[in-house]
Amino acid sequence: MIFTDETAAPSNGSRAAYDLIVVSNRLPVDKVTHADGTVEWRTSPGGLVTALEPVMQQADGAWVGWAGVADDTSEPFEQDDISIVPVTLTADDIENYYEGFSNDTLWPLYHDVIAPPTYHREWWESYVRVNQRFAEKAASVAAQGGTVWVQDYQLQLVPKMLREMRPDLTIGFFNHIPFPAYGIFSQLPWRQQIIEGLLGADLIGFQRAADAGNFTRAVRRLLSYTTRGSAIDVPLEVAPDDEPEVVGSPRVSTAKNGVLVRTVNARHFPISIDTQSFENLARRPDIQARAREIREGLGNPKVVMLGVDRLDYTKGIGHRLKAFGELLADGAVTVEDVTLVQVASPSRERVAAYQQLRDEVELTVGRINGDYSTISHTAISYLHQGYPREEMVALYLASDVMLVTALRDGMNLVAKEYVASRFDNDGVLVLSEFAGAADELKTALLVNPHDIDGLKEALLEAIAMKKGERTKRMRALRKRVLDYDVARWSSAFLSTLLDPTGVPSYVTTKWGASDR
Ligand code: G6P
Repeated sequence: MIFTDETAAPSNGSRAAYDLIVVSNRLPVDKVTHADGTVEWRTSPGGLVTALEPVMQQADGAWVGWAGVADDTSEPFEQDDISIVPVTLTADDIENYYEGFSNDTLWPLYHDVIAPPTYHREWWESYVRVNQRFAEKAASVAAQGGTVWVQDYQLQLVPKMLREMRPDLTIGFFNHIPFPAYGIFSQLPWRQQIIEGLLGADLIGFQRAADAGNFTRAVRRLLSYTTRGSAIDVPLEVAPDDEPEVVGSPRVSTAKNGVLVRTVNARHFPISIDTQSFENLARRPDIQARAREIREGLGNPKVVMLGVDRLDYTKGIGHRLKAFGELLADGAVTVEDVTLVQVASPSRERVAAYQQLRDEVELTVGRINGDYSTISHTAISYLHQGYPREEMVALYLASDVMLVTALRDGMNLVAKEYVASRFDNDGVLVLSEFAGAADELKTALLVNPHDIDGLKEALLEAIAMKKGERTKRMRALRKRVLDYDVARWSSAFLSTLLDPTGVPSYVTTKWGASDR
């Protein structure tokens, strides 16, 4: 951290300025208040923290975000050598900006309207207000000429707001979820404001090439800006007095029609996981012993199938249960031979669509278990809980078949975690072609989860797959996940973002230009 008494102080007079700021809705730490009133900041085990931790430590970095509870007004503090800068959300903000606009408007819209999005003007107004608060907080702690990397759909207006306040900053944005086709995106009453908000960034990252394509098409349709591949020319409205300063920027040029344009890039950077840390856990004897114990606890079936998801309607849990239920009904599999473990971690429980999904899933699980379980063998072990990473890796090792049947998913990191954990080159990944991971994990058994017969066939193929074939496929999957881990993702994004201005030393560039 640089204290700025003598150096360039941020405009609001705050004492600290940081060269790299990550802004995300959730902080990498959650505030937990115990019954006795003591407060604990618990590191959330998300991959993004692991990816960015070394970069943040070297770069003099700060993380701006929400502590996960209402009305928290904690002051900035240091945790694991990263400066944490909390943003307050009131109960009203949580209801309207987070549960409402982020998770009941944008989330279903961006996931191909699997659930119907709800449009409320009060939610939008709250989204604008809260985005402004995040932008102001980031602006107040960013060093002169610093870099701000904004994360995900909750904060799409922040890039433009930030640029207006701090034109000296380099701004990146990464969308972790899909970006929908224009025919769907155009439903949004505030579609133009969202596109303009994002175009405040210098580089906009997406998971898949298709997402970046959908975004540039939306820019053309809504704003008629010129695009050349991944480059978008955003016309600048500059006063003549400002021109020399603006023209000096490496991203500003004069277009053919004589108009000054700022070039924004929209490209795909598929996110990954901290692959090595999963493999390290999987190699631990205690975790391997736990994996054996899990299989024994399940009655030592021949085949253990596993699903691990946030309990979300995008994950296709119902489709998976239907396919498995039909296989049991057909007599194609029996509970003595095949069991399914479904971990469904609680998520966004105050949003109605999530409450309804929980009821549907639990009804289906109850019916299948009632019809097919025996005293000694359960058809589906359903766990509505979150688990620490150690237990997840034990589950991955214990499972012969991993089921990822998302109807739409930005990436799906569970698929990559399974592959990273299987250092024994065994296990079969059944993967939806509608998950971003399908672009990379091509030797998985790819499925269309809407096609229940096709899904049933894929499950039978996975169950019956010979060892040689399993090994061949898993080796190829592992090569991709080991080569392209989350550190490589962040370095590819940051080096592309900072390329025209010079890549600072905190960005590891050992992977070279091919990532850009
Ligand atoms: C997805 C989103 C993240 C979000 C996470 C958990 O992965 O891309 O931005 O943090 O879900 O959802 P929650 O609403 O609990 O933050």
